Amino acid sequence: MSRITTRDLKAMKRRGEKIVMLTAYDYSMARILDEAGVHVLLVGDSLGMVMLGYESTIPVTMEEMLHHVKAVVRGSRRAHVVADMPFMSYQISPEDALRNAARFLKEGGAQSVKLEGGEEVAETVRRLTQVGIPVMGHLGLTPQSIHQLGGYHVRGKTKEQAAKLIRDALALEEAGAYAIVLESVPAPLARAITERVRIPTIGIGAGPWCDGQVQVLQDILGLYPDFVPRHAKQYLRLGELTRQAVAQYAAEVQEGSFPGPEHSHSMDEKVLEEVLALAGS
Ligand code: KIV
Repeated sequence: MSRITTRDLKAMKRRGEKIVMLTAYDYSMARILDEAGVHVLLVGDSLGMVMLGYESTIPVTMEEMLHHVKAVVRGSRRAHVVADMPFMSYQISPEDALRNAARFLKEGGAQSVKLEGGEEVAETVRRLTQVGIPVMGHLGLTPQSIHQLGGYHVRGKTKEQAAKLIRDALALEEAGAYAIVLESVPAPLARAITERVRIPTIGIGAGPWCDGQVQVLQDILGLYPDFVPRHAKQYLRLGELTRQAVAQYAAEVQEGSFPGPEHSHSMDEKVLEEVLALAGS
């Protein structure tokens, strides 16, 4: 079965078919999401927080990203896998960006990369796409700029911010990006951007009019205890269910009811008797 391509995703926009994207960081979850029909698996640098326990995405390294990208690629067959370029893996120079993005495709097996920023990264996007590396852009709340933005706030409410976001989206499209994530952008502005670009927009906290939606898996499964963003709907309380299951396991181990005969292996008693007799002598 061949994987969903950037061309398929652009065709979905033209047909008005919504794109379903979720983050994934490991083999087991990637298998489940792929089998559930998710179109795009984003190995987001959010893994720094939800998988590695960092306070932000800033410390995430190329090696950490590659480790998780490989696992997600191994776990999926149909979904398009996007590798998020971590902080400072593409900002220094287009050449540096090229080297790092290529590693995600060559070593990691991803089909495309994502990076944050608009007009200021357009040259880098052009360089990557010219050599055949598909790029997904990311605008609005860009977590790698958290220290400059001063917090995880909605972007695009003022005239200046809204105008800049529209310019950024057009610059990314012009540079060859195949899709753009819009994070924490007012819904009407996300709609206006979606109508102005031919490439798909994927919203997260950007309202219903984007061409697709992305969420952090841990947020929709109720697995990240530190913070639940306003834009995340919890479909499950997996953290709580896991706590209950583990408490039951612990109780059964302590009272001796686990493991039962169905979880244990038997052997020919005569063999054991002979071995014990030999050991005794
Ligand atoms: O890293 C990530 O998970 C992301 C999504 C929030 C879009 O960039």
